[in-house]
Formats: sequence, C-alpha cells, structure tokens
Amino acid sequence: MQLIDGKATAAAIKKEIAEEVERIVAAGGKRPHLAAVLVGHDGGSETYVRNKVLACEACGFESTLIRYEDDVTEAELLACVDRLNHHDEVDGFIVQLPLPAHISEQKIIEAIDYRKDVDGFHPINVGRMAIGLPCFISATPKGILELLQRYHIETTGRKCVILGRSNIVGKPMAQLMMQKLYGNATVTVCHSQSTDLKKEAREADILIAAVGSPAFVTADMVKPGAVVIDVGTTRVPDASRPKGFRLQGDVDFEQVAPLCSYITPVPGGVGPMTICMLMMNTLAAGKKEIYA
Ligand code: GUN
Repeated sequence: MQLIDGKATAAAIKKEIAEEVERIVAAGGKRPHLAAVLVGHDGGSETYVRNKVLACEACGFESTLIRYEDDVTEAELLACVDRLNHHDEVDGFIVQLPLPAHISEQKIIEAIDYRKDVDGFHPINVGRMAIGLPCFISATPKGILELLQRYHIETTGRKCVILGRSNIVGKPMAQLMMQKLYGNATVTVCHSQSTDLKKEAREADILIAAVGSPAFVTADMVKPGAVVIDVGTTRVPDASRPKGFRLQGDVDFEQVAPLCSYITPVPGGVGPMTICMLMMNTLAAGKKEIYA
C-alpha cells in the first residue's frame, strides 16, 4: 500500500506556481489576485477561507477577503458579486458556501462572471467541462485528477466507482473520469438510492468516496489492490484533540488501507489539493489562459 501524500504534492505545486508568478512579475506582468467572500462565522468556512488567503500568500498572489454578517441580504451579496465582476484588479473570486438559508446559492453562483469563476461552479463552466471545452474545473475533482496523474496511476479503461452525486464533487468527478482527455475510465456513480452500493464499490479499480459520511467505506466494499480516494472531511467529536474534534474521512482508513494499492489519508490527502487547485485556477485567470 502506498499513501498518496496530498500535502506534499500541494506544497510542490504551490512552489511551482510561486516561481511562475515571480517570472510573470519580473517580466512586467500582473500578480494574480483572488478575492474571497465569506458570509457569517461557520467554523469550517472560516478555516477554509483563512487557508485560501494563506495559500495566496504562499503563491505570491494578491488576495482580498470580503466579510458579511449572517443577516446580509441577497441583494447586498449580488451587488458585491457585481462589483467584483467589474473590478479590474481582481482576476478571480469565490463566494464561500454554504450561504445562509435566506440567500439562493444558485442565484449567487449564476451572478458570477464565468470568466472570474475560479471555483468552476457557474453553469457555463460546468457545461463546458461536460463537453470537454476549456473552462475552470472545480477544485476538488481537479485535485484528484492531479494526484492520480502525479502518482502515475493508470485510469484508462479501468473501472472507476464514485460514491456521491454532489454538484461540487460526485457529478464533475464522473464527467472528468469518463472523458477521453482526463480519466478515460468506465464510470459508475452510486448514491443513497443505489440498489447494491457495496457490490458496485467492490468492483472498482478506482474508488472515489464523496458521501460526507464518516468511515462509510469499510473493508468489505474494497477490491484488493484498488486505488481509494477519500474526499470526506467530517468533524467528529474527539476529546483527546486540542480542538475537541478530528477530521474523519468517508473511508475507514484502518480497515481499508491494508487492502489498497494506493490510498489518500484524511487529513493530508485530497483536502490540501483542493485549495492548491483554486490557486492553479487563479493563476490561469490572471494569465487569461482560458478566457480572454
Ligand atoms: N464550500 C466547500 N467547498 C467549497 C469550495 O470549493 N468553494 C466554495 N466557494 N465554497 C465551498
């Protein structure tokens, strides 16, 4: 069994990005600039956004954090999106999800100029991704592809089973894994209503778990020699930890790891790659690489 080290891979990629930024700036070009909009004080969102700002620093990007309280109106948030759409200095921006219930996430996502949508959540980017056109690819599936590539894990023709059908992970992952240009694999997507999810999972050469259910994947669901990618990061109470919780993946690591050819740990697997891919998308936005 080989551990896929997302933390080290992400650090190496951030270094590559930082070097490229310095070359761009030395040649008289502009430093990429990411803006992040954070609504409220959700612990997870605060951490994610803080880490995104830190990653910008590590990559030599400019960053702007815009904060609103939970009671911000949808109209105020839409006005903020509009300002960022027209802000010449800002190359790309994200609105951290989830948003309070009185705000339509879909309305906010669709208000973002797709050319600055470095999250890759806008329907134009999702649609372009689905038909294999240049676009911003959302960070988690892009990070998983990058890990598979950098660990030289063959995906062509292999059976890939994805657990979960979310818009952020399961659906785009399935699209990318089936495409000739990316995974070129045979793809099955399982979800809460799948008749025999365990049987499907056991047939996977590459199993990608994105259900958000701690330790959901047990040893009886994994074929010996499979590659297991764990996207889950649920905070579970743990009195022995300083913060009172630990991050638990969707995979029962202790049980499953000995069976695998490769596995991503939690933390330190997919998570660090996600923020790193946001940086890659921001660099592409700064360079106007995808959309002029
Ligand atoms: N919430 C959880 N993951 C993400 C993400 O990748 N982008 C945004 N904007 N919000 C999130």
